[in-house]
Amino acid sequence: MDNERIKKGINRRSFLRSTAALGAGLVLAPESFGQESVSETDDINVALLGAGAQGRVLVDSCLKIPCIRFKAVCDIWEDYNQRLLSRRLKAYRHEHNTYVDYKEMLADEKDLDAVIVATPDFWHAEHTIACLKAGLHVYCEKEMSNTIEGARRIVQAARESGKLLQIGHQRRSNPRYIHCFDRLLKDAKILGRITTVNGQWNRSAQLDLGWPKKATIDTNLLNKYGFTSMEQFRNWRWYKGLGGGPIVDLGSHQIDIYNWFLDANPKSVIAGGGTDYYDKETHQWYDNIMAIYEYETAQGTVRAFYQTITTNSSQGYFETFMGDQGTLVISESASRSDVYREPSAPDWDKWVKIGCLIEPAKKEQEKPETDAVLDVRETLAPPAYKLPVKFDDPYHKPHLENFFDAIRGKAKLNCPAEVGYETAVTVLKVNEAVEAARKLSFEPEEFNI
Ligand SMILES: NC(=O)c1ccc[n+]([C@@H]2O[C@H](COP(=O)([O-])OP(=O)(O)OC[C@H]3O[C@@H](n4cnc5c(N)ncnc54)[C@H](O)[C@@H]3O)[C@@H](O)[C@H]2O)c1
Repeated sequence: MDNERIKKGINRRSFLRSTAALGAGLVLAPESFGQESVSETDDINVALLGAGAQGRVLVDSCLKIPCIRFKAVCDIWEDYNQRLLSRRLKAYRHEHNTYVDYKEMLADEKDLDAVIVATPDFWHAEHTIACLKAGLHVYCEKEMSNTIEGARRIVQAARESGKLLQIGHQRRSNPRYIHCFDRLLKDAKILGRITTVNGQWNRSAQLDLGWPKKATIDTNLLNKYGFTSMEQFRNWRWYKGLGGGPIVDLGSHQIDIYNWFLDANPKSVIAGGGTDYYDKETHQWYDNIMAIYEYETAQGTVRAFYQTITTNSSQGYFETFMGDQGTLVISESASRSDVYREPSAPDWDKWVKIGCLIEPAKKEQEKPETDAVLDVRETLAPPAYKLPVKFDDPYHKPHLENFFDAIRGKAKLNCPAEVGYETAVTVLKVNEAVEAARKLSFEPEEFNI
């Protein structure tokens, strides 16, 4: 059907937009949430803007989702990232055009439905807004922007365009996280009164990213796109004005979960950090940060600690929610999700029976032989209940599926612009708090646009 339309000189997007098509009821599913949706069987035509490490991860996930067609790839690193990704798409028979400049791509590509934006954070506002204005749905990687002002403009553009904007906090669509929020926290209230949260992303010391010298980008081109050198281009995360450092790069994923699971935005944050290990010239953002947020939830005050360090990977990454009846330890890494009952909490058998939890393995429940050991062992390692959710897909696939399902009118976005914005406000303030060396408050209106 697509080919016929194109032959007639009507590209698919303008066809979908046309009131005649809408009036004839040809494209809208009843549950389309106010969007012009793409039908179940039509391909969704997608462009990738930013073909770096994360662009590749997202494309690989998309290749596992039916009826997604890549039509264009845009990346300023023509001789390397752009070429690699283009080759990969060709191998999967996705006929597409390649571009260095996004403006050219938007001008030339007439048959797109959506763009995936995976450029460095400081480009997100310009890229996302331009794509929305071109009438396209956008999946924009986190952090939504490296500035609050950029993030605000994105939210406004999304509202004005009426297009869908999903922000790439992919845990929001992860079935394990959804189970924890919907079943354990909201329905069963299994942790009781949550008082404390603790989370971290600890990473080993790493060398700066390099590049094959024969693929060095011309300095004029680098400058045109906001970079001063190849070194800075490759390691943009560490530079003020380009990225936000580890608290934004890593922390935003998990602090987003704090807001979600506590069903609140924080009241204040206090934080300490610095560039203590790496060269300060080339690592302008802090290489370690420890932050404490204060939340006022419906149940009372919650203090939430978050740490990111980049010199040691001890314990990796996880989020822990602690209440007076239990503890939930969860991580995007599939091997980690344990739920512990406080000894004083009511029996959890009923939650096991209705499928909220899987009870601890028998071996873990066996009592040790002497009472002395029993006391110590019970204090140190209560038996761990498990989640009854099996999830073996690539981490980003469900979030992309949610985006495409929303385009088809079958789902609501799990991380729309407003949610991404609240997270950006929550996270970007940590860098400010380190710089100010004092506790900073959040005014409720800071989270609204
Ligand atoms: N959701 C996640 O789990 C996750 C993980 C990693 C990165 N990310 C996010 O993805 C984004 C990209 O990160 P990355 O690790 O892939 O970075 P990267 O440096 O590997 O890739 C960025 C790519 O964008 C290209 N680029 C830069 N400026 C451009 C411009 N103006 N126009 C077109 N192309 C441009 C670069 O050439 C490069 O290929 C960031 O926002 C990052 O925060 C998200």
